[in-house]
Amino acid sequence: MIVLGIESSCDETGIAIYDTKSGQLLADQLYSQVSLHAEYGGVVPELASRDHIRRVVPLVRQSLSEANLSLQDLDGIAYTSGPGLIGALMVGASVGRSLAWGLGIPAVGVHHMEGHLLAPMLEDNPPEFPFVALLVSGGHTMLVEVESIGEYRILGESLDDAVGEAFDKTAKMLGLAYPGGPVLAALAEKGEPGVYEFPRPMVRQGGLDFSYSGLKTFALTTWNQSDKTEQDKANIAHAFQEAVVDTLFIKCRRALEAVEGKRLVIAGGVGANKRLREKLAELDAEVFFPQIQFCTDNGAMIAYAGAIRLEAGQTEEATIAPRPRWSLEQLSGLGA
Ligand code: KG4
Ligand code: ZN
Repeated sequence: MIVLGIESSCDETGIAIYDTKSGQLLADQLYSQVSLHAEYGGVVPELASRDHIRRVVPLVRQSLSEANLSLQDLDGIAYTSGPGLIGALMVGASVGRSLAWGLGIPAVGVHHMEGHLLAPMLEDNPPEFPFVALLVSGGHTMLVEVESIGEYRILGESLDDAVGEAFDKTAKMLGLAYPGGPVLAALAEKGEPGVYEFPRPMVRQGGLDFSYSGLKTFALTTWNQSDKTEQDKANIAHAFQEAVVDTLFIKCRRALEAVEGKRLVIAGGVGANKRLREKLAELDAEVFFPQIQFCTDNGAMIAYAGAIRLEAGQTEEATIAPRPRWSLEQLSGLGA
């Protein structure tokens, strides 16, 4: 089955084509809106939606040409249906649905986080089930027990800021360029170890939840009390990153112990962090890191997650209904 995947939940338009028969990715195209949002220091939802509209069709064409295929060769379409920014989701969902309708092929809406946690399946050496997944992105920090596809148990999550968000906000406070995460990580490498010691939130009490908003405040206070030199900045970045990586390491070890897991999969944008990769490799487990391009948002993970579901016969009615948030209480009863 040849499946076109469309990712448009935030600030990246990702289009990819996955072939279930060969287990190969036939095309993988990405357009990042980073420069569009840079002057605002964060993603502007309306600008994001408009840019997805501009990019999505040309990227579909580019993907087809990369794969040497035509639209008629597609057997199914997968698009991110949530969670994410509503306007941005609408673009991928509308284009995906319309294409499927026009071509008379099935389509399925994919959960963005499922996409992330199945991304390592695209590697040459994919993990076997079951595994524990550490999902660390701009919007989520989660430890998930993955029994098999679709069988997920959340072991712990952030009670406030997501890790990526904490990186981005701390970077912004230190006056670093947007997007802050990778810039702060690069600066941390120039920091002198041991100058500052940041707390390790939520480590002493048991449990697998995280909290990162305090670290951001700690970074600000430390910065304000310093001489505000470039070296101070690097030292703070270093201490901040060490605290984040350490807490993630401790919680991953704890999660693996709790479920007697032997495999840990890292997913999401913060999975690109070099120090985190180094540290997690020390765990007494098989640790799987997707390539950097599959850690951050991409169409390949959506094509893959959708293809698995489509191949299992899962499709949805031809309605376009992205769900950025969806409470159980919004469901209606069966009454007259
Ligand atoms: O998964 P992703 O691309 O998008 C979301 O679904 O959120 O993750 C983006 C997040 C951003 O917060 C970004 O700053 C962070 O991942 N990030 C990093 C690094 N590369 C990306 N954080 C720390 N170190 C990095 N090297
Ligand atoms: Zn993501």
